[in-house]
Amino acid sequence: MHISAASKKGYFITFEGGEGSGKSTQLKLLSTYFEKSGLPFIATREPGGSENAEKIRSLLVSGAVDSWDPVTETLLFTAARSDHLNRIVKPAITEGKIVICDRFFDSTLVYQGIGKGIGEVYIKSLHNMVFGNFMPDLTVILDIAPEIGLKRADARRGNENRFEQLDIKFHQNIREGFLQIAQNEMERCVVLDATKDTETLHKQIVGIIKEKCGVFL
Ligand SMILES: Nc1ncnc2c1ncn2[C@@H]1O[C@H](COP(=O)(O)OP(=O)(O)OP(=O)(O)O)[C@@H](O)[C@H]1O
Ligand SMILES: [Mg+2]
Repeated sequence: MHISAASKKGYFITFEGGEGSGKSTQLKLLSTYFEKSGLPFIATREPGGSENAEKIRSLLVSGAVDSWDPVTETLLFTAARSDHLNRIVKPAITEGKIVICDRFFDSTLVYQGIGKGIGEVYIKSLHNMVFGNFMPDLTVILDIAPEIGLKRADARRGNENRFEQLDIKFHQNIREGFLQIAQNEMERCVVLDATKDTETLHKQIVGIIKEKCGVFL
């Protein structure tokens, strides 16, 4: 297996979708697949993914549902992203690795921009100011009705449930937000039906990576 000669750098692939849509499950399956194939990669997540960003994660994902006002929350996500990108993601891409990441900018756009009402313009401007035009090469959106996703997440749950506590309407808006992003950015995004079984989804994802990233597996 190798990355096509045409590509001089690695790839940045993000997984997005609501609570319990299966992002972490698919990231794990893909990691195992890459390991077996000997492809250079790292698996990471947001918020978090670097030592300092993981500290910020603990402030964001647990605790009372309203413990942060939306602007502060957005800035904390952005601060965590800055550390994660500069210390982990960008160096790995420069080394030619594939980076697979559990949530990224699209989550900020839908959770804070749409769900919390900060506005898409604000979120996009902030991203642009801090990160320029840095975006994933490919984004896999796992689409599922929030009623099903939340039930799945509930069955598995630890204490990282701050966002799950928001009402069903919030989660429906999140779902719509992801679908809208996919419509706006068809080159970058692929939407998958997350109610399919894990193996079927995994095979679909491997197929998409082969096709879109020029990675021969
Ligand atoms: N395709 C699937 N079909 C049925 N159950 C699934 C599927 N994918 C994942 N699950 C189960 O649903 C639960 C949530 O999955 P997972 O933790 O991967 O979701 P997630 O998107 O990472 O959630 P969160 O946003 O809360 O981190 C787990 O118990 C997992 O085993
Ligand atoms: Mg997860």
